[in-house]
Amino acid sequence: MSTVEERLEALRMAIRYHAYRYYVLDDPVISDAAYDALWRELLALESAHPELVTPDSPTQRVPGAVSDRFAKVRHPRPILSLANAFGPEELHAWRERFLKLLPEELQRDLQYVVEPKIDGLSVVLTYEDGRFVLGATRGDGEEGEDVTANLRTVKSVPLRVPVQPADAAGPDRQPPARLVVRGEVYTPIADFQRFNAQQEQAGERTYANPRNFAAGSLRQLDARITVGRPLKLWVYQIITLEGAPTPRTQWETLAYLRGLGFPVETHIRRFDAWDAVVAYCQSWGQSERHHLPYEADGLVIKIDDLAIQERLGFVGKDPRWAIAYKYPAEEAVTRLLDIKINVGRTGTLNPYAILEPVQVGGVTVTNATLHNEDYIREKDIRIGDRVAVKRAGEVIPQVLRPLPELRTGEERVWQMPDRCPACGAQAVRAPGEAAWYCVNSACPAQLVRSIEHFVSREAMDIVGFGIRQAELFVARGFIRDLADIYYLDPARLLELEGFGEKKVANLMAAIAASKTRPPARLLTALGIRGVGEVVAEALMSHYGSLDALAAAPLAELQAIPGIGPVLAQNIVDWFAQEENRHLLDKLKAAGVGTGQAPHGERPESLPLAGLTFVITGTLPTLSREQAKELIKQHGGKVTDSVSKNTSYLLAGEAAGSKLAKARQLGVPIIAEDDLRRMIQQPQTTTG
Ligand code: IVH
Repeated sequence: MSTVEERLEALRMAIRYHAYRYYVLDDPVISDAAYDALWRELLALESAHPELVTPDSPTQRVPGAVSDRFAKVRHPRPILSLANAFGPEELHAWRERFLKLLPEELQRDLQYVVEPKIDGLSVVLTYEDGRFVLGATRGDGEEGEDVTANLRTVKSVPLRVPVQPADAAGPDRQPPARLVVRGEVYTPIADFQRFNAQQEQAGERTYANPRNFAAGSLRQLDARITVGRPLKLWVYQIITLEGAPTPRTQWETLAYLRGLGFPVETHIRRFDAWDAVVAYCQSWGQSERHHLPYEADGLVIKIDDLAIQERLGFVGKDPRWAIAYKYPAEEAVTRLLDIKINVGRTGTLNPYAILEPVQVGGVTVTNATLHNEDYIREKDIRIGDRVAVKRAGEVIPQVLRPLPELRTGEERVWQMPDRCPACGAQAVRAPGEAAWYCVNSACPAQLVRSIEHFVSREAMDIVGFGIRQAELFVARGFIRDLADIYYLDPARLLELEGFGEKKVANLMAAIAASKTRPPARLLTALGIRGVGEVVAEALMSHYGSLDALAAAPLAELQAIPGIGPVLAQNIVDWFAQEENRHLLDKLKAAGVGTGQAPHGERPESLPLAGLTFVITGTLPTLSREQAKELIKQHGGKVTDSVSKNTSYLLAGEAAGSKLAKARQLGVPIIAEDDLRRMIQQPQTTTG
């Protein structure tokens, strides 16, 4: 029997580790439901024993009192800035400068670490005996502001290091006595866009770019506002380290920090040839830079050897041993030829610019977003204007502002149309919202967008079906609602230009294959406002089927972690609509979304029906998620802990405590091979 304290510690360690897998590595090893179960147990135990709650418990990310100002914090040593280099000449000049200061023997064999320059907000985090005790902004480099309460809400900021799997505790994993690290808080581009879109829909203020958004979110006096903001952390420098061996290079520093469980950027490279550094800087701006999930305004080049860094020191606020290679702003000026409207999936009418083609950051841009009516009016953007256009990363290019000094007098003020450009129905602007909507729920443009989403990879994943096919099938009247996808007549498709026997057969097969997607995928595909992959998974792991979800009362939905009141209401409203119920019936009649194997097999006839599995260790070919999916597809259940109710323990390499427990309880232990055999020969599992 373990004591309450031991159980608390075990739960915290497990949650810390799984949160790290999820928020830092982006690679969870257990389901959300299993994670929630651990979380609920911890909350229950802590509320029964409030005296045992510790500040580094994962439950303690919730902010407390609101403050009226931030306290000042003195940094243990100056938090330096960086000098910039634009272009290879300036890079060479930087190298010439520091080489002169080094004795000849140190000039040879220099290594360089090159890191993305994250466009965020510099922060300084202090850990005492592995516990996060203080978080500050950079401020003027000497003194910053105490934003500890806000930083505690950022899930990738470890509250305790080292973070480690529950079974890896040991004397070699001791926390350093004192550690001060520096990093950058940022917001991923996709989260930023999602947030802005939501704000826009709600008629609230939007932010100009992810950096302003991250800075504004972190510097909230009420940390309860920060909690809901998508903020993340990358760390890249040790300011102070006591009670642990000091790394000798930047490369070792990053490895050490990564090992402690800090988030460390994954595109960092080390070079030992200067020419390779320069070539990399030149090519990176055209390629990788645009594929990062966050905005980077350049690269940082650092001399790897920390002793050499120390020796070179700094001038003013800039170290001599590092430099920022910056790319010119990705802005250009062009003419705004016209403003058109794009109809969104939910009927929003989104104005966008038709531009005279222009090169921005190496890409030709012809369209750019104009956000909404208010944006155009407030900036006084007119058709015919010369406009500044910005493109950053994967973000859709945007019109920043007009250049009124270049007006000829021929420019026209634009008016938001009061009819949907696709179907001619009335357009309305809800009070308090920035967006206009088309009121016609049968609007063909909305339907095309809904189909595009339904067939997409995260939803029903119908290969060979995209917006082109959606437009064509809607225009021809083959598809009038989402369910019609499953009632397409191949004979009529064959009559279409460019649709040969093979293409039609492939498309029909892809459509048929999508019928077996699990219910969570179907739920995502339906496009209910606010119900994306994560929410859909959470709802389905709670309810198991769309029928059960459709019957769920509002209060019950709200009680599910991660489902707020607005979202819960959206879901209830969606299922209450007659046409949506009809849609679900029609999908069901076509056999869609059962999550079962093809040929309409009933669950009880599936080979693993009635069996409960626990997975542990590293399997030879399958990831845990894949193994889990495979078991579920064949009717089995997967749980997280071994008990006398476990039918089999599926064990791979380096299996730990679960293996011991299974042996103790006499639970049969199988390997991946055995599982595969069970699936192909159902009689061996039932006999
Ligand atoms: S190193 C003394 N590395 O860029 C070392 N800074 O424009 C100086 N930044 O104030 C910082 N990514 O806030 C470093 N990988 C990275 C960075 C980075 C972003 C920020 C940092 C700095 C600013 C200078």
